[in-house]
Amino acid sequence: MKLENDLYLRALRREQTERTPVWLMRQAGRYLPEYRKVRAQAGDFMTLASTPEMACEVTIQPLERFPLDAAIIFSDILTIPDAMGLGLYFEPGEGPKFNNPITEAKQIADLPVPEAEDLQYVMDAIELTTRTLNGRVPLIGFSGSPWTLLTYMIENGGSKTYAKSKALLYKTPELAHQLLDKLAQSIVKYLIGQIQSGASAVQVFDSWGGVLSPADFQQFSLKYMQQIVDGLKAAGFGDTPIVLFSKGANQNLNELSQTGCHGLGLDWTIDISDAKKLTGDQVALQGNLDPATLYAPDEFIRQAVKKVLDEYGSEPGHVFNLGHGMQPDMEPEKVAILVDAVRTYSAK
Ligand code: CP3
Repeated sequence: MKLENDLYLRALRREQTERTPVWLMRQAGRYLPEYRKVRAQAGDFMTLASTPEMACEVTIQPLERFPLDAAIIFSDILTIPDAMGLGLYFEPGEGPKFNNPITEAKQIADLPVPEAEDLQYVMDAIELTTRTLNGRVPLIGFSGSPWTLLTYMIENGGSKTYAKSKALLYKTPELAHQLLDKLAQSIVKYLIGQIQSGASAVQVFDSWGGVLSPADFQQFSLKYMQQIVDGLKAAGFGDTPIVLFSKGANQNLNELSQTGCHGLGLDWTIDISDAKKLTGDQVALQGNLDPATLYAPDEFIRQAVKKVLDEYGSEPGHVFNLGHGMQPDMEPEKVAILVDAVRTYSAK
């Protein structure tokens, strides 16, 4: 489909753009009253995510308010573990949980590798949203990284210490590798399905890459993101931009930039100019304003946006974003200020 606004895709290909494109991680969500309304109608998160009409509606909601340059399909990274049979649910205030958690490492051998059709509701939501957007902006597909999905599967939810996940890595590395390999295989199928359904680019969220030492990161996270990049290329999808976002893993940026991905997401704990030095002209960079900036006064937000843009400089290859996702208690009015500042200060 011909896109009216392809700034985001051009920036990821490091082509010149009239201004810096902007979208925000978790731009659809509870900070928007219109999201909370549809969420309440759905009753629970999985009903919302697995009903294409509703997923499409909440995907587009932030674009109706703000002139964003990309939409990201409303779904979750934990759909793959769900499709493997773990049974995902969200306990209010508690975060994600599984009905059939992995309690014994030997269960890993029996886990299936889901096909894209096993996640048909995501494919349907992407198809419907692509059709509804009708070329307005690109739609981003996504998945979790193998390592980040492993942590949720092994901890049965979030964790502060990642004790069980790390015990698995260190006590039975062969089982950890078996799980990571299965996850990487299913992610390749999943992302290919998303691209075939209409996604113009894909992002891999390695939200917990930063809890690994650099050596462990290489072995247990980077290796499997490499498998994903290689898998997409081998299947003929190498032209679709792929963005890797390893939060808290800035010490690995140079290695990440050599995977053959198109872009790297950055958290806010590194100056984007330093990230650029580490990654050379290999990749585009996406980021990296501290999301908490959205709690600040308007003029502070404007200056903080300008600082990130100035630090990146005038070369092509920057997609403006936050360094992590938006929070439910953020005010929509602040997003309007941020997006306006990006558009104003980056205009060539
Ligand atoms: O707008 C968007 O960014 C698209 C939708 C999206 C969601 N989750 C919706 C969601 C995306 C891209 C994600 C990715 C995701 N999910 C990540 C990676 C990004 C990151 O934050 O590092 C992770 C780690 C998850 C796992 C996850 N999903 C958690 C920990 C939670 C609970 C957190 C909470 O605030 O309750 C979710 C649920 C979830 N996924 C919500 C949303 C909007 C909130 C649940 C709700 O509305 O009931």
